[in-house]
Amino acid sequence: MDFIDLKSQYRALKREVDERIQRVLDHGQYILGPEIGELEQKLAAHVGARHCVTVASGTEALLIALMALDIKPGDEVITTPFTFIATAEMIVLLGAKAVLVDAEEDTANIDASKIAAAITPRTRAIMPVSLYGQPADMDQINAVAARHGIPVIEDAAQSFGATYKGRRSCALSAIGCTSFFPSKPLGCYGDGGAIFTDDAALAQAMREIRVHGQSGRYNDTRIGVGGRMDSMQCAVVLAKLGRFDWELERRRALGRRYDELLAPLAPRVRPIKVRPDRTSVYAQYTVRATDRARLEQELKRRGIPTAVHYPLSLHQQPAYAAQYRGQSFPVSEKLAREVISLPMSADLRESDQDAIVAAIGQSLRVAA
Ligand SMILES: Cc1ncc(COP(=O)(O)O)c(C=O)c1O
Repeated sequence: MDFIDLKSQYRALKREVDERIQRVLDHGQYILGPEIGELEQKLAAHVGARHCVTVASGTEALLIALMALDIKPGDEVITTPFTFIATAEMIVLLGAKAVLVDAEEDTANIDASKIAAAITPRTRAIMPVSLYGQPADMDQINAVAARHGIPVIEDAAQSFGATYKGRRSCALSAIGCTSFFPSKPLGCYGDGGAIFTDDAALAQAMREIRVHGQSGRYNDTRIGVGGRMDSMQCAVVLAKLGRFDWELERRRALGRRYDELLAPLAPRVRPIKVRPDRTSVYAQYTVRATDRARLEQELKRRGIPTAVHYPLSLHQQPAYAAQYRGQSFPVSEKLAREVISLPMSADLRESDQDAIVAAIGQSLRVAA
């Protein structure tokens, strides 16, 4: 059993993917070919944002978004300590400070009620993460931000396709950034990402930053990066779009089914909660386990692959610990000790899901 089954997905989409890739080989415009504009248009429509700028990765999306907002040394950006490292890494890379606000225990997303207390005169942006595929509480976050005139960047690397009060992730705030890393709900076959905004000036700035700050050929009017997504990767995402809505529905159904099957195993295993006003795309299907190490070991013995997202909070990572000495984020630290992700993809079979849950039940009995 695969943790994420990309092989079945490719088998189902082989004709579309192969044709799309062949088309790129035929026209030979590997960088900024016609696939870029086509994908940006389709993604913007899917999300409900005015502008989409494809970029080299989710990490690059965050960097370019922060650069477009002119985040610089001395600035502060509020984010969560319980995320993939790239979120804070890009803030720190620009010389700014990542100010951390603890997570909420049941959803593992940033605790929006604690953000206001972290705002200072140096706060320049708030960057919530829509972790595991479920949007953070974006209305509450946008309201705090609006009171202080601060933009919100949603790190939607894991949540493309999710909804919040009927609106799509990536179009829930001033800027939304996503990733097309192969294992993401909408993935390519290498690195890729996209940024969304309704603001034409920001979109233009991001387009320029993506190509070394060029506003015209060899006319570098701002500092930029080499941050383009290539035509081949755009072609792969385009091929996958035809099946994506079906995949979203399937992921949601499998997520709900996991919740139901696992319910009798509480409190030793408790799924991350999805709030009733949002949907998750389950980039990861994650549970909290009171004895994670034992569960991990027992599942491995039974041939069930698992992963831990994430074993350490940002402030516990060696490269960052010195900056946060003396600070603690108890909820994030607890989540880092307890979370474990189970196999999840649109092509996961119900029979495999039953076997996974049965193996969890057996593992708990062994550990009792
Ligand atoms: C929350 C979060 N932010 C940022 C990223 C970075 O995306 P990428 O791997 O495409 O650079 C990821 C991807 O792993 C992520 O999960």
